[in-house]
Amino acid sequence: MDKIIFTFSMLFLVACHSEKDLRSDLHSFSEPHHVITTHLDLNIEVDFENECISGEARYEIENKTGHRQLTLDTHGLQIHKVTSNGETRNYFLGQKDSILGQPLLIELQKEDEEVSIFYQSAANAKALQWLNPEQTAGKKHPFLFTQSQAILARSWLPCQDSPGVRFTYEAQVKVPNDLLAVMSAENPREKNIDGLYTFKMQQAIPAYLMALSVGDIEFRELGANTGVYAEPKLIEQSAFEFAETQEMLVIAQDMYGDYAWDRFDILVLPPSFPYGGMENPRLTFVTPTILAGDRSLTSVIAHELAHSWSGNLVTNKTWDDFWLNEGFTVYFERRIMERLEGIAYADMLSLLGRQDLERTLESIGHSHSDTHLKLDLAGRNPDECLTDIAYEKGFFLLRLIEQTIGRKQFDFFLKEYFSENAFQVMDTEGFVDYINSNLLNHQPKLKEKIRLEDWVYGPGIPENCPAIKSSKFKAVDQAIQSFDRGYSLEHIDCNHWSSHEWLHFLRHLPKKLTKKDLKKLDLAFNFSKSGNAELLNAWFLRTIPVGYKPAEKPLEDFLMTVGRRKFLKPLYEALYLKDPSRAKRIYENARANYHSVSQEALDELIL
Ligand code: BES
Ligand code: ZN
Repeated sequence: MDKIIFTFSMLFLVACHSEKDLRSDLHSFSEPHHVITTHLDLNIEVDFENECISGEARYEIENKTGHRQLTLDTHGLQIHKVTSNGETRNYFLGQKDSILGQPLLIELQKEDEEVSIFYQSAANAKALQWLNPEQTAGKKHPFLFTQSQAILARSWLPCQDSPGVRFTYEAQVKVPNDLLAVMSAENPREKNIDGLYTFKMQQAIPAYLMALSVGDIEFRELGANTGVYAEPKLIEQSAFEFAETQEMLVIAQDMYGDYAWDRFDILVLPPSFPYGGMENPRLTFVTPTILAGDRSLTSVIAHELAHSWSGNLVTNKTWDDFWLNEGFTVYFERRIMERLEGIAYADMLSLLGRQDLERTLESIGHSHSDTHLKLDLAGRNPDECLTDIAYEKGFFLLRLIEQTIGRKQFDFFLKEYFSENAFQVMDTEGFVDYINSNLLNHQPKLKEKIRLEDWVYGPGIPENCPAIKSSKFKAVDQAIQSFDRGYSLEHIDCNHWSSHEWLHFLRHLPKKLTKKDLKKLDLAFNFSKSGNAELLNAWFLRTIPVGYKPAEKPLEDFLMTVGRRKFLKPLYEALYLKDPSRAKRIYENARANYHSVSQEALDELIL
């Protein structure tokens, strides 16, 4: 009977809330203004056979308002039991939402300071990708990784899945005894015989930074507080590729203050990982497609490292404020790369970014509200709406501010911004107030030049967007001209080109290329056999529309193994445009190799 009354009152509460919408983060059901989780003790077992995670999540809570209910986010979780101090508590799973999942409403007693949830993840939990041995480098052991950002943490543990709720955690994870488990926490370096691993994360983090990976993984030190984890087959290559990591960390600290997370390690995942990198604190996850062999794609590491300040320290309050995470991080990433490789190198990155931005604007529409830095993602899935706008428009705004007020002053401002707001959230309005009162209001003429609000609340690229010139790309443009005029490719002086020059080259070749042109280019530069995923991707985007046969097999191999969404979307779009049934056939074969976030983007396109 108790349970029935409780259930009805819960229903009533849910109904009230959807009417008034008191929640500031529309992508979480949790009500942290009433009861907030402050520490997690996670005790789970990873079951590869049944592809599920099960166990206990015990939260320490702070009840701010004497509320009798704790609300957590879940997505597909089976809840077995809820207790507090060993006594059971009533609970109720609210209505299902296809994007947000289900609220788990737990009845609290006045004295409750901790709550345990016994649960199990669903077979197709969205954050989890279970790989069979075939999908790994070593081909012998299965592999698991999580991807919690933006709102998928709730599919592998019950949590207040909102960037504004931070908690510390400890975890005990049981895995098959020939595998190593690692998390966004203090990590083991070696396997142990019983497959039982313990973790501790002393700095409070939001749920989207919760991460776990399990596999045949080895550790290699890179520097004083940096290292890399990878499958044994890839460890050597990974250690070579990321050898500059410690130097990056030193540069970053020098610019924006002490590193708050003790260690910065990298985990190289199998190629189905849907992103370039993910800034899980203490253990950045990366795609193996940045193992180019020549350290030419390491700006991804600089990027994820930069998130240790922008994002992990000062966190976007909601996904509408995503540019505060990514725009700042791209700016910071390019500053790190400038110190490491020189200004000409960083300018290439910025120009390629500008090209990405133009392409995104073309596809969204220059005047669409999704081109504002401040987004409105109400009712939508953030994972499908977060675009290059946050990254590149955000970057160009910060670059404009830097240029207008001067680098020295801007750096001073940023350092203060990170330290004053550390371990807190920031929303767009809060940032506008902060920069106005700490920087721009003192210099009204410069403030007028920047027109911050046009950038933040307006569409497209404002007219005062900084122009970037690159002497390196000028040389590439000349090479393209000579190709266009029919001159032999042997005379192109490209021996010292980096991937960035090649990317610019491939993107700017004449619009209409013939099969013969492609053959000539392929013979001269061997693009179809390139080991650099960025180049392959740019090359395939040129060969698909033309129907250049020799690239077809390499393209299919690429699509069968690589799950990085940034590559897959444009490639399948081009394929579909050319030959829908071929696109469909390839996708049907490859789909099982992709993570749910890539599958969701492509299902919409192809199925
Ligand atoms: N945090 C992002 C990845 C992300 C964003 C995951 C939104 C889920 C939702 C990460 O830092 C990132 O930006 N990755 C980029 C690489 C970067 C060098 C631009 C990527 O994956 O392409
Ligand atoms: Zn990022």
